[in-house]
Amino acid sequence: MCGIIGYVGNNNSVPYIIDGLKRLEYRGYDSAGISILQGHELVTVRAVGKVAELEKATLLANPKGNTGIGHTRWATHGKPSEENSHPHTDCTGDIVVVHNGIIENYLTLRDKLESRGHRFKSETDTEVIAHLIEENLLHVRAENDQDRLLKAVQKTNKEIAGAYAYGVLWARTPGLLIGVKNQSPMVVGLGKDENFLASDVPAFLKHTNKVLFLEDGEIALLHVDGVTVLDKDGKEKEVKPVKISWDQQTAEKGGFAHFMLKEIYDQPQAIEDTLRTARADFGKILGLDTTGIRELRNIHIIACGTAYHAGLVGKYYIEQLAGIPVSVDLASEYKYRAIPPLPHTLAVAISQSGETADTIGAIKKAKELGFRTLAICNVLGSTLTRTCDGTFFTHCGPEISVASTKAFTSQITSVYALALFLGKANGNLSQAAFDKAYKGLLALSKAMSEAVKLEYEVRHLTRKIYKADRFIFLGRNVNFPIALEGALKLKEVSYRSAEGFAAGEIKHGPISIIDKGTPVFMIMPHDSLFEKMLSACQECRARGAFVVVITTKNGVKQAKDVADKVITVPQTDDLLQPIIDVVPLQFLAYWIAKRLGCDIDQPRNLAKSVTVE
Ligand code: G6P
Repeated sequence: MCGIIGYVGNNNSVPYIIDGLKRLEYRGYDSAGISILQGHELVTVRAVGKVAELEKATLLANPKGNTGIGHTRWATHGKPSEENSHPHTDCTGDIVVVHNGIIENYLTLRDKLESRGHRFKSETDTEVIAHLIEENLLHVRAENDQDRLLKAVQKTNKEIAGAYAYGVLWARTPGLLIGVKNQSPMVVGLGKDENFLASDVPAFLKHTNKVLFLEDGEIALLHVDGVTVLDKDGKEKEVKPVKISWDQQTAEKGGFAHFMLKEIYDQPQAIEDTLRTARADFGKILGLDTTGIRELRNIHIIACGTAYHAGLVGKYYIEQLAGIPVSVDLASEYKYRAIPPLPHTLAVAISQSGETADTIGAIKKAKELGFRTLAICNVLGSTLTRTCDGTFFTHCGPEISVASTKAFTSQITSVYALALFLGKANGNLSQAAFDKAYKGLLALSKAMSEAVKLEYEVRHLTRKIYKADRFIFLGRNVNFPIALEGALKLKEVSYRSAEGFAAGEIKHGPISIIDKGTPVFMIMPHDSLFEKMLSACQECRARGAFVVVITTKNGVKQAKDVADKVITVPQTDDLLQPIIDVVPLQFLAYWIAKRLGCDIDQPRNLAKSVTVE
């Protein structure tokens, strides 16, 4: 999830672009770059770090021009470095491209282009776009340079696969900026004698609130005096701008009141982005050959906070799909307990930030014990990814809210991909079982799109219960960690007392804290443990609890007999169900915190990334 801003107007584009990039920093912040058309020459400045670093470098280089593009990066392919920062150029340096998204077939395209003599300067997927446009310019015919560039871009779009939004400048067409959108966001801002191309509205909201939201497959041609939009068939489309009434802050949150809410709604896209690499060869990532993978006898999962809960779900996945025993440790505990140095052990660290000191300390210990180490992480180039033997990136985009939501569901999805790989590689899963499970995985994003529609219902429910002193969450099997996560989310943002338990355990103690009116959330999709969960509902109800059941369609009828409220979540494969079941609990935490007037994105006493032990 990177940020793009482009400007065409009568003024020097540099200040517009630098300011736009600062306002897009919430989309990514590991490096940034700018390209300005100075006459017929493209001047590019790039810098590692936040936009402030680019600003300093740009002041020194002092480029000036009426047309320019900029980019703030959240690395997905290639570490954060100056060479991997955007804009990227072709061999001649006359074409520059900024891109947001993932080009899935970039390796094949890169090989093809290299065999035709193209020389690549970065490790990114983006660079293939610049070289493809260069190549295609040689093969298209048109009356003028603008049409030639457009045709080359259209031809390029037919060759690249994946999600992408990109902007292009060509030294031969000053005053023209082309924007392309396919499954990644791209908007156009219509100003007076100036027009803007951006990943998101806040980049230019200061200058105009007239916005065109491009659709997938569309191309926009921006000039100083107007914008032409071509639909997916290449036909010119009537331009109908929308007037945005958001203020700057609201715009950064995509119109949502808080980043937490925005990130809950980001989940269908986040899951889709995670799944783009779900068929990854973990053997290659880890530097293990087939024998090395087959020989794995133990897996240690290490994590903190929400990531730890993702690890707990992962244990069920790996044990069931790959038949390998798994232990899950809080990183702060792993570091200080005696771990037998058994051979053929893989240690998996799960972390959104990759900077959590406890997790890094624990994985270092695993390395000292001679274990192979894998990071499941969201931040390319982070300390954890540099420490481990290999990394699987969750690709869910920057998470700004302290309370983790989309990173959590992407982490679970990632461990599922790992479990499937291991199961297939070691023969625990037949090809048919693998295919079936993989099909279920691919349907996840759609179910997630349905799950986020539950906000209104959950919001309504919170009116009744938000003043309660304590909240209880119960689940079993793969949904036990979801009970823990539901409680953690609520504690983090609303400061209410909340506890999660394995439902079978309540009779061994926790039931004593259930009182008249205590809200008890039962996470119980209609699976093999449903009946047992029904008994737990009865037990809680008998103590006066206000029972809320989260279940799937087939469980609704029976749930209604034992619950005060039933929330129906979309059905997935049983193992994947927790990824969906957590969504109403995320909304629950959000709405209780909101009603209590808490600081949702920055809860008291908490930090997004805890870099001290
Ligand atoms: C902090 C955050 C939690 C997060 C945990 C692990 O405690 O407040 O929300 O789950 O760190 O962070 P990580 O970046 O390693 O996933």
